[in-house]
Amino acid sequence: MSNQYDKRNVQTMEMLYGEGYLSMGGDDEVAKIVSLVDIAGLDVLDIGCGLGGASITLARDHQARVCAIDIDAGVLERANELVGKSNLHQQVQLLHFDPGPLPFADQSYDVVYLTAVSCHIEDLGPFLAEIKRIIRPGGCLLGAEWFKASENDAYRQWDDMLRDRGLNFYFVSLDGLRQAFTEVGFDAVALHDQSRRVANLAAHYLQRVEVELQQELFEALGSDEYTALIDWTRIRANALELGGSGYAHFVAIKPSA
Ligand SMILES: C[S@@+](CC[C@H](N)C(=O)[O-])C[C@H]1O[C@@H](n2cnc3c(N)ncnc32)[C@H](O)[C@@H]1O
Repeated sequence: MSNQYDKRNVQTMEMLYGEGYLSMGGDDEVAKIVSLVDIAGLDVLDIGCGLGGASITLARDHQARVCAIDIDAGVLERANELVGKSNLHQQVQLLHFDPGPLPFADQSYDVVYLTAVSCHIEDLGPFLAEIKRIIRPGGCLLGAEWFKASENDAYRQWDDMLRDRGLNFYFVSLDGLRQAFTEVGFDAVALHDQSRRVANLAAHYLQRVEVELQQELFEALGSDEYTALIDWTRIRANALELGGSGYAHFVAIKPSA
């Protein structure tokens, strides 16, 4: 399995999505997700924090106490740099962990924050059960995820490309996501479909890759990798535009009793 978050890919993604991000939308996207739940003063665990962009804004702009964890030591190095640069080491703790059981006691966090991570998990049941275990009663799982909206040609082209490149993505439908949350015992599962808005965002990133950042990206990546990035960005934008791929925000509550 190739590591899609090696140093060069990380630099490319930051050029495209902004400092600290491996996914679309930056701080504005985090603010939209957080508008679903007031997290001020709460203990928040950001699982699959990547480069820490979301963890930083969760602490700095939304006043949460954040622990940010990832299975990839390389991305955490960059997160550590950015947390230091933001002077937030008191509010954002970073931790490397191995896939499997989460290294926390039961009921340790009020909120688990999860964006663009569960699409990397082949078996969602045990992963979500672990998350539920460490959330306090009445707390929640909050985040965003890609989903399979329709298995049309545009979706298949996107999925085939990821598979051809040896990347580990496992998309499920919106109903599949709802079912996975519900089956492990989350309550009041709310999924907010953002696909239309995110299709526009994806078109904007395609424009950045092909036009605004063309020279910079070509110089940084060389011809073959630049072409591969254009393909990736175009096929993803197409899958969203044609209703094959979707993106949703979610909140799932852990029952109080
Ligand atoms: C698309 S990136 C998203 C990063 C960050 N949440 C963001 O939105 O910028 C996916 C992240 O999930 C991490 N990841 C993959 N599998 C994971 C797992 N089983 N547990 C925790 N994190 C995982 C990767 O290392 C990577 O940092």
